[in-house]
Amino acid sequence: MKVSITFLILGLSILLLEANPGIKVKITQKALDYGNQFGVELLKQKLKEKTFEDWNGDSTYGFFALKYAISKIRINNMEFPNTSLSLISGTGIKLLVENASAIATADWSVETWLLSKDSGSGAVFISGVNITAIVKVSQNEFGHLKLLLESCKGNVDDMDITLNQSYRWLYTYSTASLLCPQMNFVIQKINKDFSQYPVQTQIGNFAVIDYSLINSSTILETSINLDLKGTVYPVEEITEPHFKPTPFVLNENNSMFYIGISEYFLQSASLAYYTSGAFTISAEQEEMLSSYFNLTTDALESIIPTIAHIYAKPLPVIMNIRIIDTPVISLHDNKSILEFSASMEVLAKMPNPTTESMFTLNITTRTHADLFIFNRKLLTTLCLSSFHISLVHSNVGLFEASLLDNFLSYILRTGIIPAANFKLKDGFPLSVLDPVILMKPSIRMFEGFLLISSDIQSLRKRGTSQSPSKH
Ligand SMILES: *[C@@H]1O[C@H](CO)[C@@H](O)[C@H](O)[C@H]1NC(C)=O
Ligand SMILES: *[C@@H]1O[C@H](CO)[C@@H](O)[C@H](O)[C@H]1NC(C)=O
Ligand SMILES: *[C@@H]1O[C@H](CO)[C@@H](O)[C@H](O)[C@H]1NC(C)=O
Ligand SMILES: *[C@@H]1O[C@H](CO)[C@@H](O)[C@H](O)[C@H]1NC(C)=O
Ligand SMILES: *[C@@H]1O[C@H](CO)[C@@H](O)[C@H](O)[C@H]1NC(C)=O
Ligand SMILES: *[C@@H]1O[C@H](CO)[C@@H](O)[C@H](O)[C@H]1NC(C)=O
Ligand SMILES: *[C@@H]1O[C@H](CO)[C@@H](O)[C@H](O)[C@H]1NC(C)=O
Ligand SMILES: *[C@@H]1O[C@H](CO)[C@@H](O)[C@H](O)[C@H]1NC(C)=O
Ligand SMILES: *[C@@H]1O[C@H](CO)[C@@H](O)[C@H](O)[C@H]1NC(C)=O
Repeated sequence: MKVSITFLILGLSILLLEANPGIKVKITQKALDYGNQFGVELLKQKLKEKTFEDWNGDSTYGFFALKYAISKIRINNMEFPNTSLSLISGTGIKLLVENASAIATADWSVETWLLSKDSGSGAVFISGVNITAIVKVSQNEFGHLKLLLESCKGNVDDMDITLNQSYRWLYTYSTASLLCPQMNFVIQKINKDFSQYPVQTQIGNFAVIDYSLINSSTILETSINLDLKGTVYPVEEITEPHFKPTPFVLNENNSMFYIGISEYFLQSASLAYYTSGAFTISAEQEEMLSSYFNLTTDALESIIPTIAHIYAKPLPVIMNIRIIDTPVISLHDNKSILEFSASMEVLAKMPNPTTESMFTLNITTRTHADLFIFNRKLLTTLCLSSFHISLVHSNVGLFEASLLDNFLSYILRTGIIPAANFKLKDGFPLSVLDPVILMKPSIRMFEGFLLISSDIQSLRKRGTSQSPSKH
């Protein structure tokens, strides 16, 4: 299954919160290797397309003071034979570029107080460019993710300049001295992007997800481990749920990345949806359900004989269903369970347009949920595994609620569960950020969390490179 989703990781920001995370994201060395390879391709493409600003400046060289201008700079070709991204435990990311080379063309002009103005055009061949940079992963005072160029060393081995040999020193000096500031410039730009991603995103009409990073995020030698708040709130009120996340650990490292979604996250979603009224069954829906089954009172007579006495002539049966508590989600090894409690009032529809309540049941329904990823969404379908009914109130005499088991089983299997699945069909958007392709994503269930693992591929390279996926 080749599925594209939008990538969660890019839009993260850090908030200073001391708690267990609701979502964990783990990015492995394998992802960095891919990022390195992809980054080099992207850089080459960007640099080729880039129009550089003109370099103007004043400089002194011995007793000479000069003004120089270099314009129409174009990079025609470049090679990065040896680049790598690696992790420094506790700090951040190390970027290594060795023996890079480039050919650029430009127009130049130089003016000194001794010599008259001189100008021309030519090419620069730069080789043996080395950069070693360590980027610290930290956070700013507003709590957004912040990268910091902790150290940077840039060297240029050789330059072959046909612009003008007399000013060779100038270009060599400029190039080497610009490597690290350029690097810093790029990092500032990334920080700006990070700080503009919202940490809270509304999904649909009912809920807001908090994706902010909490400060237990760690960088190990083999992986970046980001801990996200991972709480869903009802849109109308951002208040913390009364339950807390429990710690969990992502142990694997064969895929490029892992997203661990805790029971806490799903339960906060359930609470948010419940509180916002997302599970409210409308009058029309109830009517549809009742007319779908098209029951009449005589269908219940064999179970509850008094009904035959009360309603001599068969009357249409109406069912009013209410979800009466937050559905409970629990995750276990290889299975996930969703339990919901409903109240069902069964009424007779009188010839004059009134209704008479016959009886009310409490129904606790246990379903197992199948989860999968499709079309940038986390989707689930419910399947009935068991239910329990109890009689709350009756106007048709007392009876053993379990006598209604077959009746209820039929209603649940053919009416309510399919209706719930229809409501769930829109799924849970995994994110709204930069698109990537997930390569063979898998979802597995563990005690207390579900784990999505996948390799990724940028959409930019779709169809042009072979899959880096692993089964
Ligand atoms: C540097 O790149 C060349 C060409 O891609 C490769 O043959 C060589 O093994 C690399 N060296 C290191 C140290 O990665
Ligand atoms: C650097 O690259 C050049 C070609 O661009 C090559 O001739 C040279 O051997 C490389 N040096 C190292 C140390 O990899
Ligand atoms: C760049 O790195 C290569 C390989 O490590 C080395 O041979 C070369 O001398 C370095 N060049 C500079 C300018 O530091
Ligand atoms: C470079 O500039 C110097 C000083 O203006 C001039 O004498 C020389 O001819 C120029 N060389 C080239 C290759 O343009
Ligand atoms: C996390 O934040 C708390 C204050 O909220 C601070 O005491 C602690 O040192 C921080 N931990 C890290 C790893 O930054
Ligand atoms: C993967 O994880 C195992 C166990 O946690 C560890 O021994 C191994 O070194 C890790 N491999 C990589 C490539 O990180
Ligand atoms: C409901 O059933 C009755 C007979 O039992 C039938 O006459 C009626 O057309 C049915 N209504 C619907 C909407 O299926
Ligand atoms: C879960 O499924 C995996 C693979 O199908 C299996 O190896 C493992 O034993 C199962 N765990 C449990 C608790 O059933
Ligand atoms: C039915 O459910 C409601 C709400 O959860 C509860 O208060 C009530 O005690 C239940 N009644 C029976 C008979 O189970």
